[in-house]
Amino acid sequence: MTRTVRSAVTGVGGYLPDNVVTNEDLAKIVDTTDAWIVERTGIRRRHKAGPDQLTSDLAVEAARKALAAAGRTPADVDLIVVATTTPDLTFPATAAIVQRKLGVPVCPAFDVQAVCSGFVYALSVADGFVARGHARCALVIGAEEMTRLLDYTDRGTCVLFGDGAGAVVVEPVEGEGTTADRGLLGFALRCDGGKTDLLYVDGGPASTGHVGHLRMVGNQVFRHAVVNISEAIEAASRAAGVEIKDIDWFIPHQANQRILQGVADRLGIDETKVVSTVADHANTSAASIPLAWAAAVEDGRVKPGDLLVLEAMGGGLTWGACTLRL
Ligand code: UT7
Repeated sequence: MTRTVRSAVTGVGGYLPDNVVTNEDLAKIVDTTDAWIVERTGIRRRHKAGPDQLTSDLAVEAARKALAAAGRTPADVDLIVVATTTPDLTFPATAAIVQRKLGVPVCPAFDVQAVCSGFVYALSVADGFVARGHARCALVIGAEEMTRLLDYTDRGTCVLFGDGAGAVVVEPVEGEGTTADRGLLGFALRCDGGKTDLLYVDGGPASTGHVGHLRMVGNQVFRHAVVNISEAIEAASRAAGVEIKDIDWFIPHQANQRILQGVADRLGIDETKVVSTVADHANTSAASIPLAWAAAVEDGRVKPGDLLVLEAMGGGLTWGACTLRL
């Protein structure tokens, strides 16, 4: 029988900065209430990086935990892909800074910019390297300091986001080429650049020369979310050759509890299978999936052999899903 090499996730880790900002804290600086935020989003609190803490610092903490979980050290790493929309600097890539801080030897290291969908995009990039034999120990990190992009006079956006990082280690494993194999089994990645105006940052090196603030037409993004995410999950699961009913855990991007619930309802996924950290983390963009994943591994819910589906949607608009067996 022909053996198939798949890319498998062998370790997961998450890191949140110590400082917690509650809804009540925000209600002191902007016209909002805890009740509105909880009812419309499910968010109760979020973490905020300290003034001297960089995105790369959060990424390094998460990466160390993922490497320890995989039984690997920085010396083993031969690829770093960081999904971020809040890099330390315009260049070099945050991945290069992470490489230096971790002490990883010379290897390919670069960032992927697909905003909240960045982690799913980055995972598919790493899959390309690992499954083709171009890397044997890839670090895929989602790391964000979204609070640096917020306009704290805009109540429609400043209550929604937080900071954090999550990381996974991706390594080759041999399988039989069936859906029982460990590994990344199917992806669906999408972007509709016609919808750029619905969610963007109003600055950048080539336009204003400043970083800018996050702008979102929230209710229009919301309208696109449930239908498009559901389609991507169905496509990723079809590509994997598995059925939605066989999925053990649904680990979504944590933008809004109503979106998580809407997607689960549409696809007939029982709410007990949905990993939700939105109440405690808020929307950490590319970090939200690996952070939620790490939390569910840590508390014993997600175990080796489980069939997982990851999904995300964000600025671009980008969206996508990945079906994998742990
Ligand atoms: O990760 C990237 C993807 N992003 C998302 O998936 C976010 C998608 N969008 C959403 O999650 C929701 O649209 C929001 C949570 C952003 C907003 O919820 P909504 O139910 O769509 O509310 P809305 O934007 O239609 O606003 C309803 C009302 C407005 O007041 P009026 O015009 O009806 O008087 C807003 O001004 O709620 C008001 N509002 C607030 N009130 C209190 C908006 N933000 C706040 C706030 N506190 N923080």
